[in-house]
Amino acid sequence: SGLDLVIRGARVTTAADVFVSDIGIAQGRIVALGQGLPAAAREIDAAGRVVTPGGVDAHCHLDQPMAPPVRMADDFDTGTRAAACGGTTTVIPFAAQVKGQSLRAAVADYHQRAEGKAHVDYAFHLIVSDPTPQVLEHELPALIREGYTSFKIYMTYDDLKLDDGQILDVLSVARAHGAMAMIHAENADCIEWLTRRLEAAGRTAPRFHAHARPMLVEREATHRAIALAELVDVPILIVHVSGREAVEQIRWGRAHGLPIYAETCPQYLFLTAADLGIDDSYQGARCVCSPPPRDAGNQQVIWDALVDGLFTVFSSDHAPFNYDAAEGKKPGGQEVAFRHIPNGLAGIETRMPLLYSEGVLGGRLTLEKFVELTATNPAKAYGLHPRKGSIAIGSDADLVVWDEREFVLSNAMLHHAVDHTPYEGHTLRAWPGLTLARGQVVWDGTQFHPRPGQGRFLPCGMPSLRPRKP
Ligand code: URP
Ligand code: ZN
Ligand code: ZN
Ligand code: ZN
Repeated sequence: SGLDLVIRGARVTTAADVFVSDIGIAQGRIVALGQGLPAAAREIDAAGRVVTPGGVDAHCHLDQPMAPPVRMADDFDTGTRAAACGGTTTVIPFAAQVKGQSLRAAVADYHQRAEGKAHVDYAFHLIVSDPTPQVLEHELPALIREGYTSFKIYMTYDDLKLDDGQILDVLSVARAHGAMAMIHAENADCIEWLTRRLEAAGRTAPRFHAHARPMLVEREATHRAIALAELVDVPILIVHVSGREAVEQIRWGRAHGLPIYAETCPQYLFLTAADLGIDDSYQGARCVCSPPPRDAGNQQVIWDALVDGLFTVFSSDHAPFNYDAAEGKKPGGQEVAFRHIPNGLAGIETRMPLLYSEGVLGGRLTLEKFVELTATNPAKAYGLHPRKGSIAIGSDADLVVWDEREFVLSNAMLHHAVDHTPYEGHTLRAWPGLTLARGQVVWDGTQFHPRPGQGRFLPCGMPSLRPRKP
């Protein structure tokens, strides 16, 4: 028949439909959909089981150099291994420019980090931290043409943040060349002022990280980012939105007809500020991330905004640091003041199963919406659709066959190199029973099947969330 593999009787799920079909695969691509496909060299019985596109995790940090002694626990080997076992077959980590470094040099460095290691396909977002005239006029436009069509800019973190004028300059390049700008929206000066005040009062335990970054600082920066994008007349995507106040600003922008896209992450559905500690214990350092998780009311706001379409993408923001380690959450082996705790938490493997369990099986999200948020929209936002993020003739055969079964999550089951998961003890109701990456089994429900170096770099096309301007 020319088919290498047929998946039989699946409940094939896309962002638009659920239908019962066989899936015919040849040379790593989907080449046939329909019932009664001819026999193939290899057959998988998926009768009655949900099959979705492999996930596209459009926000994760892998092997990003940090200020010593801090190091990320996952590189492109362990990070993409964990992704695959959790149903994610495309990752878009960052190639981060260090101030003073050329963007080109940053890109070359990250290609070397991924080379020969990745088990699933990957693209890169750029992080622009030093928008010199050379970067704005030459490097960035050339890199966009070469397939680096999205970049993240920061309104906080001393080594990354841009001022408003720099943000306008970078957004202008996004407008001129059709790139997607992702914005980390928190007001750096407010955070610094609050941090100093807390430190002066001796309030340095991990839980005070959340006190130093209240929703106001996210709300103000989100509003400012929207205003700057309106001034330049360019779409933006606000990353890792944590709760009500930022959501209100994004609704305001949308209501005014502005193309403001938004992302949220598992930590804002499944964690609260109480996970940073209810006393001064250091344990809560595990859940220090920015913006911090909020409270139960804000979790509900985030669920509502996922359901009603305010959010375009659901990403992990995987930022892997060991807890009990001198290169992780205890820099130099010390229980440090919250200012010095590396920000971010692990979630590349649990992103899809958590949302499937609590969203789809919890009765909040349709299967179609789950696929849209975890695969289709991230592929569209970053120029990888329809090759990625769909089940269609010609798309890569990146597929997940879901097992619906209840179990209690423990870090021992996971495949990242992090010594804990923030979701330890959480009851899950689904996990991938099979993950295919370009037609190859990379996770069979029990075992990981390594394919180092077979994860390919994907040059990205232009964002396709909306019609391009003529
Ligand atoms: O705390 C977080 N989110 N760390 C990762 C870096 C970022 O800002 O996304
Ligand atoms: Zn960020
Ligand atoms: Zn991030
Ligand atoms: Zn096997």
